[in-house]
Amino acid sequence: MPQSPQNIMITGGAGFIGSHVVRLFVNKYPESKIVNVDKLTYAGNLNNLKDIENKPNYKFIKADIADLDKMREIIRENDITGIIHLAAESHVDRSIKDPFTFARTNVMGTLALLQAAKEYWDTFADKYDGKLFYHISTDEVYGALEITNPEGVKAPFTTKASADDHMAFGVEFFTETTKYDPHSPYSASKASSDHFVRAYHDTYDLPTIVTNCSNNYGPYQFPEKLIPLFINNILQGRNLPVYGKGENVRDWLFVEDHARAIDLIFHEGKPGDTYNIGGFNEWKNIELIKVLIKTVDKLTGKPEGTSDHLITYVTDRLGHDMRYAIDSRKLQEELGWEPSLQFEEGIEKTVKWYLDNKDWVDNVTSGDYEKYYDKMYSNR
Ligand code: NAD
Ligand code: TYD
Repeated sequence: MPQSPQNIMITGGAGFIGSHVVRLFVNKYPESKIVNVDKLTYAGNLNNLKDIENKPNYKFIKADIADLDKMREIIRENDITGIIHLAAESHVDRSIKDPFTFARTNVMGTLALLQAAKEYWDTFADKYDGKLFYHISTDEVYGALEITNPEGVKAPFTTKASADDHMAFGVEFFTETTKYDPHSPYSASKASSDHFVRAYHDTYDLPTIVTNCSNNYGPYQFPEKLIPLFINNILQGRNLPVYGKGENVRDWLFVEDHARAIDLIFHEGKPGDTYNIGGFNEWKNIELIKVLIKTVDKLTGKPEGTSDHLITYVTDRLGHDMRYAIDSRKLQEELGWEPSLQFEEGIEKTVKWYLDNKDWVDNVTSGDYEKYYDKMYSNR
């Protein structure tokens, strides 16, 4: 298992979760070299890393993970011994419109990275000792769960029921052994990439770990996903497009808690294993949206209820998965991880961040940053 210091490549480090992981590793492991490899798609933004971009142990390389020769070169030239792979196309609605981009990046990109890592690590006398390929995946690969128990009674989501309450109620959870059953092009591409990672472990003994996490929220999330999109829309007085009846259930985790789990698993996880990451925090979309509205109105000094009228029910997403819910007891019991924040605290922290960083939101919604980076990196 890899011990710092070492040379760690983090892919997708300019994205939402990746930027939190890069920041944590650069600050926590000053003796390690952290190489952030990112293509800077619409979702990648170097403004997410302004506070650490000049640290001596940090390096950014603009590259496409599906470019096998480039991955070989980066891994060799930087003597990479650990990889934390987050780069991906990540938005379900985009995958419904453009599945091919998802297959290219998520499947072929992951395969290129696995192959490049294997080839380089094969050149070491001690081969795979101290090396690790850590693949970040999603709970969406497991498919969708019911929102009722076997008697057909709806579970008490959002009533601050504890994990034990939910378990006792008899609704199902995703565990590490739940059979894969992806429905969207996004989850199908992530499932496929997970299979390739496990195939490299089972066939070549490559030391790999896969983690499947629930929905993340927090600072620096691109405002196309539910929480940042709705915070922004409430601030602008724009409609909140709730898909279907708003009854779908998601399990939400604060992004810094995910980053802490990744750090722990990278250093203490067992190669060949899978860990589910989640905080037992399920919310029906419409209930979560009401909390968001209340929090934004409160923090902007508006009377409670001011923005309720923005809720607008729209046509449902195609193939919309009903419920995701992670059982993370393996991670909690084996490695001692637990989430640090209650959901209401996390939401308040997130709304405050978006209020304090309006420039960041204006920038990513105006497309200015894409033009800027196109110009800046076009010749590299
Ligand atoms: P994101 O869309 O915010 O960021 C993805 C990053 O990958 C961007 O910086 C983008 O530029 C980069 N990228 C995309 N294609 C690339 C390519 N071909 N080559 C190099 N870089 C490329 O995504 P996120 O929400 O931060 O998710 C990160 C990872 O975590 C993904 O693998 C995702 O599947 C997984 N995940 C996300 C969530 C969530 O709720 N956001 C939950 C569980 C797992
Ligand atoms: P999203 O943030 O896209 O994450 P995922 O689809 O990966 O879970 O969506 C979270 C939930 O919110 C999902 O049930 C779809 C719903 N949703 C809306 O109702 N309206 C929206 O505009 C968006 C983006 C999502």
